[in-house]
Amino acid sequence: MTKRIRKAVLPVAGLGTRFLPATKAIPKEMLTIVDRPVVQHVVDEARAAGIEHFIFVTGRNKAVIEDHFDMAYELDDTLAKRNKVKELEALKADLPAAGATSFTRQQAPLGLGHAVWCAREIVGEEPFALLLPDMLHYSQGKGCLAEMIEAYDQHGGNHIAVAPVPEDQTHQYGIVGVQDAKAKVSKVTGMVEKPPKGTAPSNLHISGRYILQPTIFNLLANQEKGAGGEIQLTDSMIALSRQEPFYAVRFDGEIYDAGSKIGFLAANVAYALDRGDLGPQLRAEIEKLLDR
Ligand code: G1P
Repeated sequence: MTKRIRKAVLPVAGLGTRFLPATKAIPKEMLTIVDRPVVQHVVDEARAAGIEHFIFVTGRNKAVIEDHFDMAYELDDTLAKRNKVKELEALKADLPAAGATSFTRQQAPLGLGHAVWCAREIVGEEPFALLLPDMLHYSQGKGCLAEMIEAYDQHGGNHIAVAPVPEDQTHQYGIVGVQDAKAKVSKVTGMVEKPPKGTAPSNLHISGRYILQPTIFNLLANQEKGAGGEIQLTDSMIALSRQEPFYAVRFDGEIYDAGSKIGFLAANVAYALDRGDLGPQLRAEIEKLLDR
Protein backbone atom coordinates (compact mmCIF):
# COMPACT_ATOMS: atom_id res chain seq x y z
CA MET A 1 0.00 0.00 0.00
CA THR A 2 1.33 3.45 -0.89
CA LYS A 3 0.77 6.40 1.45
CA ARG A 4 -1.82 8.77 0.05
CA ILE A 5 -0.62 12.07 -1.47
CA ARG A 6 -2.50 14.70 0.55
CA LYS A 7 -0.22 17.72 0.46
CA ALA A 8 1.13 19.85 -2.36
CA VAL A 9 4.00 22.33 -2.21
CA LEU A 10 3.87 25.39 -4.48
CA PRO A 11 7.03 27.49 -4.57
CA VAL A 12 5.91 31.09 -5.22
CA ALA A 13 8.85 33.11 -3.92
CA GLY A 14 10.42 34.02 -7.30
CA LEU A 15 10.96 37.70 -8.06
CA GLY A 16 9.47 37.62 -11.54
CA THR A 17 12.18 39.78 -13.07
CA ARG A 18 11.24 38.55 -16.55
CA PHE A 19 7.93 40.38 -16.20
CA LEU A 20 9.04 43.76 -14.92
CA PRO A 21 7.51 46.30 -14.65
CA ALA A 22 4.27 44.28 -14.36
CA THR A 23 5.68 42.39 -11.37
CA LYS A 24 7.02 45.39 -9.48
CA ALA A 25 4.06 45.35 -7.08
CA ILE A 26 2.15 42.23 -8.22
CA PRO A 27 3.57 38.72 -7.78
CA LYS A 28 4.06 36.99 -11.13
CA GLU A 29 1.87 34.14 -9.87
CA MET A 30 -1.06 36.60 -9.70
CA LEU A 31 -0.86 37.61 -13.36
CA THR A 32 -3.95 36.26 -15.06
CA ILE A 33 -4.45 33.56 -17.64
CA VAL A 34 -7.84 34.73 -18.96
CA ASP A 35 -9.57 35.58 -15.66
CA ARG A 36 -7.79 33.32 -13.16
CA PRO A 37 -4.38 33.98 -11.63
CA VAL A 38 -1.63 31.65 -12.84
CA VAL A 39 -1.35 30.11 -9.35
CA GLN A 40 -5.11 29.44 -9.24
CA HIS A 41 -4.87 27.29 -12.39
CA VAL A 42 -2.19 25.19 -10.69
CA VAL A 43 -4.21 24.88 -7.48
CA ASP A 44 -7.16 23.77 -9.66
CA GLU A 45 -4.99 21.00 -11.14
CA ALA A 46 -3.90 19.89 -7.66
CA ARG A 47 -7.45 19.91 -6.32
CA ALA A 48 -8.64 17.83 -9.27
CA ALA A 49 -5.95 15.31 -8.28
CA GLY A 50 -7.35 15.06 -4.74
CA ILE A 51 -4.85 17.28 -2.92
CA GLU A 52 -6.20 18.44 0.45
CA HIS A 53 -3.53 20.79 1.76
CA PHE A 54 -1.70 23.50 -0.16
CA ILE A 55 1.67 24.70 1.09
CA PHE A 56 2.86 27.94 -0.45
CA VAL A 57 6.52 28.85 -0.12
CA THR A 58 6.29 32.60 -0.48
CA GLY A 59 8.60 35.57 -0.07
CA ARG A 60 8.43 39.27 0.61
CA ASN A 61 5.75 41.17 -1.35
CA LYS A 62 3.70 38.02 -1.94
CA ALA A 63 0.98 38.64 0.65
CA VAL A 64 -1.77 39.01 -1.96
CA ILE A 65 -1.39 35.32 -2.77
CA GLU A 66 -2.49 34.60 0.79
CA ASP A 67 -5.39 37.05 0.40
CA HIS A 68 -6.42 35.40 -2.85
CA PHE A 69 -6.89 32.05 -1.11
CA ASP A 70 -8.78 33.55 1.83
CA MET A 71 -12.43 34.50 2.20
CA ALA A 72 -13.16 38.14 1.28
CA TYR A 73 -16.07 39.02 3.59
CA GLU A 74 -16.72 42.51 2.24
CA LEU A 75 -16.70 41.29 -1.34
CA ASP A 76 -18.99 38.34 -0.55
CA ASP A 77 -21.35 40.67 1.30
CA THR A 78 -21.47 43.19 -1.53
CA LEU A 79 -22.04 40.48 -4.14
CA ALA A 80 -24.83 38.98 -2.01
CA LYS A 81 -26.53 42.39 -1.59
CA ARG A 82 -26.34 42.97 -5.34
CA ASN A 83 -27.75 39.49 -5.97
CA LYS A 84 -24.67 38.47 -7.98
CA VAL A 85 -25.34 34.81 -7.25
CA LYS A 86 -23.17 33.35 -10.00
CA GLU A 87 -20.07 35.33 -9.02
CA LEU A 88 -20.59 34.52 -5.35
CA GLU A 89 -20.96 30.80 -6.04
CA ALA A 90 -17.82 30.84 -8.20
CA LEU A 91 -15.77 32.46 -5.41
CA LYS A 92 -17.12 29.94 -2.89
CA ALA A 93 -16.26 27.01 -5.15
CA ASP A 94 -12.64 28.21 -5.43
CA LEU A 95 -12.16 28.84 -1.71
CA PRO A 96 -9.94 26.21 -0.06
CA ALA A 97 -11.42 24.63 3.09
CA ALA A 98 -10.52 26.37 6.36
CA GLY A 99 -7.09 25.17 7.45
CA ALA A 100 -6.25 23.69 4.05
CA THR A 101 -3.57 26.25 3.21
CA SER A 102 -0.20 26.97 4.80
CA PHE A 103 2.25 29.74 4.00
CA THR A 104 5.93 29.79 4.81
CA ARG A 105 8.64 32.08 3.54
CA GLN A 106 11.84 31.42 1.70
CA GLN A 107 13.96 34.13 3.28
CA ALA A 108 16.56 34.35 0.50
CA PRO A 109 16.44 33.31 -3.17
CA LEU A 110 18.83 30.37 -2.89
CA GLY A 111 17.23 28.11 -5.49
CA LEU A 112 14.36 25.67 -6.02
CA GLY A 113 15.94 23.01 -3.79
CA HIS A 114 16.09 25.50 -0.94
CA ALA A 115 12.48 26.63 -1.53
CA VAL A 116 11.24 23.04 -1.29
CA TRP A 117 13.33 22.45 1.84
CA CYS A 118 11.57 25.44 3.47
CA ALA A 119 8.34 23.37 3.40
CA ARG A 120 9.80 20.40 5.33
CA GLU A 121 8.10 21.09 8.69
CA ILE A 122 4.68 21.53 7.12
CA VAL A 123 4.99 18.47 4.88
CA GLY A 124 6.23 16.22 7.69
CA GLU A 125 6.89 12.52 7.17
CA GLU A 126 4.70 11.83 4.17
CA PRO A 127 5.13 11.79 0.39
CA PHE A 128 3.97 15.01 -1.25
CA ALA A 129 3.30 16.64 -4.60
CA LEU A 130 5.33 19.58 -5.86
CA LEU A 131 3.97 21.88 -8.56
CA LEU A 132 5.95 24.72 -10.13
CA PRO A 133 3.30 27.37 -10.79
CA ASP A 134 5.05 28.88 -13.82
CA MET A 135 4.49 25.71 -15.76
CA LEU A 136 0.88 25.33 -16.87
CA HIS A 137 -0.07 21.78 -17.83
CA TYR A 138 -3.16 21.88 -19.98
CA SER A 139 -5.09 18.78 -20.92
CA GLN A 140 -8.62 17.85 -21.85
CA GLY A 141 -8.20 14.75 -19.71
CA LYS A 142 -7.79 14.30 -15.98
CA GLY A 143 -4.80 16.62 -15.50
CA CYS A 144 -1.08 16.04 -15.11
CA LEU A 145 -0.93 15.59 -11.33
CA ALA A 146 -3.94 13.22 -11.35
CA GLU A 147 -2.15 11.05 -13.92
CA MET A 148 0.98 11.06 -11.77
CA ILE A 149 -0.93 10.05 -8.65
CA GLU A 150 -2.39 7.13 -10.61
CA ALA A 151 1.14 6.04 -11.55
CA TYR A 152 2.31 6.55 -7.96
CA ASP A 153 -0.57 4.42 -6.59
CA GLN A 154 0.62 1.63 -8.85
CA HIS A 155 4.40 1.89 -8.39
CA GLY A 156 5.07 3.91 -5.21
CA GLY A 157 8.43 5.72 -5.03
CA ASN A 158 9.13 9.12 -6.62
CA HIS A 159 7.64 10.47 -9.84
CA ILE A 160 8.57 13.28 -12.22
CA ALA A 161 6.41 14.58 -15.08
CA VAL A 162 8.35 14.77 -18.34
CA ALA A 163 7.66 15.95 -21.87
CA PRO A 164 9.79 16.26 -25.00
CA VAL A 165 11.39 19.62 -25.87
CA PRO A 166 13.33 20.57 -29.02
CA GLU A 167 17.01 19.49 -28.77
CA ASP A 168 18.18 23.12 -28.83
CA GLN A 169 16.25 23.84 -25.61
CA THR A 170 17.44 20.96 -23.42
CA HIS A 171 20.07 23.17 -21.76
CA GLN A 172 17.29 25.30 -20.22
CA TYR A 173 15.74 22.49 -18.15
CA GLY A 174 16.31 19.47 -15.97
CA ILE A 175 16.56 16.50 -18.34
CA VAL A 176 15.92 12.83 -17.57
CA GLY A 177 17.06 9.65 -19.23
CA VAL A 178 14.44 6.86 -19.17
CA GLN A 179 14.34 3.12 -19.77
CA ASP A 180 11.57 3.39 -22.37
CA ALA A 181 11.02 6.82 -23.95
CA LYS A 182 7.72 5.74 -25.52
CA ALA A 183 6.09 4.40 -22.36
CA LYS A 184 3.63 6.53 -20.37
CA VAL A 185 5.45 5.57 -17.15
CA SER A 186 9.09 4.53 -17.26
CA LYS A 187 11.96 4.06 -14.82
CA VAL A 188 14.35 7.02 -14.73
CA THR A 189 17.92 6.03 -15.64
CA GLY A 190 19.57 9.42 -15.17
CA MET A 191 18.90 13.10 -14.41
CA VAL A 192 20.87 16.25 -15.03
CA GLU A 193 20.07 19.90 -14.35
CA LYS A 194 20.57 22.21 -17.32
CA PRO A 195 23.06 20.07 -19.26
CA PRO A 196 25.46 22.00 -21.50
CA LYS A 197 24.36 22.00 -25.17
CA GLY A 198 24.89 18.64 -26.86
CA THR A 199 25.25 16.61 -23.64
CA ALA A 200 21.61 15.91 -22.65
CA PRO A 201 20.79 12.21 -22.07
CA SER A 202 17.44 12.63 -23.90
CA ASN A 203 15.02 15.34 -25.00
CA LEU A 204 12.66 14.72 -22.05
CA HIS A 205 12.53 17.72 -19.77
CA ILE A 206 11.39 17.90 -16.17
CA SER A 207 8.19 19.85 -16.68
CA GLY A 208 7.47 21.03 -13.14
CA ARG A 209 5.31 18.36 -11.49
CA TYR A 210 6.76 15.94 -8.96
CA ILE A 211 5.74 13.37 -6.36
CA LEU A 212 8.51 13.04 -3.81
CA GLN A 213 9.18 10.98 -0.71
CA PRO A 214 9.97 12.98 2.45
CA THR A 215 13.50 11.51 2.43
CA ILE A 216 14.28 14.27 -0.10
CA PHE A 217 14.39 16.77 2.79
CA ASN A 218 17.44 15.13 4.44
CA LEU A 219 19.29 15.41 1.15
CA LEU A 220 18.18 19.01 0.57
CA ALA A 221 19.37 19.90 4.10
CA ASN A 222 23.05 19.41 3.34
CA GLN A 223 22.93 20.40 -0.24
CA GLU A 224 25.62 22.28 -2.05
CA LYS A 225 25.11 24.82 -4.79
CA GLY A 226 24.74 23.37 -8.28
CA ALA A 227 23.92 24.73 -11.75
CA GLY A 228 23.71 28.54 -11.82
CA GLY A 229 25.12 28.76 -8.26
CA GLU A 230 21.70 27.73 -6.85
CA ILE A 231 20.64 24.89 -4.54
CA GLN A 232 19.08 22.63 -7.15
CA LEU A 233 16.25 20.19 -6.46
CA THR A 234 17.52 17.99 -9.29
CA ASP A 235 20.84 17.39 -7.50
CA SER A 236 19.04 16.02 -4.43
CA MET A 237 16.77 13.93 -6.65
CA ILE A 238 19.87 12.42 -8.26
CA ALA A 239 21.17 11.53 -4.78
CA LEU A 240 17.76 10.11 -3.78
CA SER A 241 17.55 8.04 -6.96
CA ARG A 242 20.53 6.01 -5.67
CA GLN A 243 18.36 4.90 -2.73
CA GLU A 244 14.79 4.91 -4.05
CA PRO A 245 13.04 4.28 -7.38
CA PHE A 246 12.20 7.24 -9.63
CA TYR A 247 9.67 7.10 -12.45
CA ALA A 248 9.08 9.50 -15.32
CA VAL A 249 5.43 10.08 -16.20
CA ARG A 250 5.09 11.39 -19.71
CA PHE A 251 2.62 14.26 -20.04
CA ASP A 252 0.93 14.36 -23.43
CA GLY A 253 -1.03 17.60 -23.04
CA GLU A 254 0.17 21.13 -23.76
CA ILE A 255 2.70 22.85 -21.47
CA TYR A 256 3.00 26.64 -21.26
CA ASP A 257 5.82 28.35 -19.42
CA ALA A 258 3.79 31.23 -18.01
CA GLY A 259 7.01 32.62 -16.55
CA SER A 260 8.13 33.60 -20.06
CA LYS A 261 6.36 36.29 -22.06
CA ILE A 262 5.69 34.08 -25.08
CA GLY A 263 4.46 31.19 -22.95
CA PHE A 264 2.23 33.53 -20.96
CA LEU A 265 0.69 35.10 -24.07
CA ALA A 266 0.21 31.71 -25.76
CA ALA A 267 -1.43 30.29 -22.62
CA ASN A 268 -3.87 33.20 -22.52
CA VAL A 269 -4.87 32.60 -26.13
CA ALA A 270 -5.07 28.81 -25.75
CA TYR A 271 -7.13 28.87 -22.54
CA ALA A 272 -9.46 31.58 -23.88
CA LEU A 273 -10.00 29.78 -27.22
CA ASP A 274 -11.27 26.78 -25.28
CA ARG A 275 -13.87 28.79 -23.38
CA GLY A 276 -17.39 28.69 -24.74
CA ASP A 277 -18.04 32.30 -23.66
CA LEU A 278 -14.87 33.70 -25.28
CA GLY A 279 -13.49 31.26 -27.84
CA PRO A 280 -15.51 32.04 -30.98
CA GLN A 281 -15.22 35.81 -30.56
CA LEU A 282 -11.50 35.65 -29.80
CA ARG A 283 -10.91 33.46 -32.85
CA ALA A 284 -12.57 36.12 -35.02
CA GLU A 285 -10.45 38.85 -33.39
CA ILE A 286 -7.25 36.87 -33.98
CA GLU A 287 -8.15 36.31 -37.62
CA LYS A 288 -8.69 40.05 -38.05
CA LEU A 289 -5.32 40.77 -36.40
CA LEU A 290 -3.48 38.26 -38.57
CA ASP A 291 -4.87 39.96 -41.68
CA ARG A 292 -3.51 43.33 -40.59
C1 G1P B 1 13.31 24.27 -12.63
C2 G1P B 1 13.96 22.90 -12.43
C3 G1P B 1 14.17 22.21 -13.77
C4 G1P B 1 12.86 22.13 -14.54
C5 G1P B 1 12.23 23.53 -14.66
C6 G1P B 1 10.84 23.46 -15.27
O1 G1P B 1 14.23 25.11 -13.30
O2 G1P B 1 15.18 23.07 -11.76
O3 G1P B 1 14.69 20.91 -13.57
O4 G1P B 1 13.06 21.57 -15.81
O5 G1P B 1 12.11 24.16 -13.38
O6 G1P B 1 10.39 24.76 -15.47
P1 G1P B 1 14.02 26.72 -13.37
O7 G1P B 1 12.95 26.95 -14.36
O8 G1P B 1 13.65 27.14 -11.98
O9 G1P B 1 15.34 27.26 -13.81
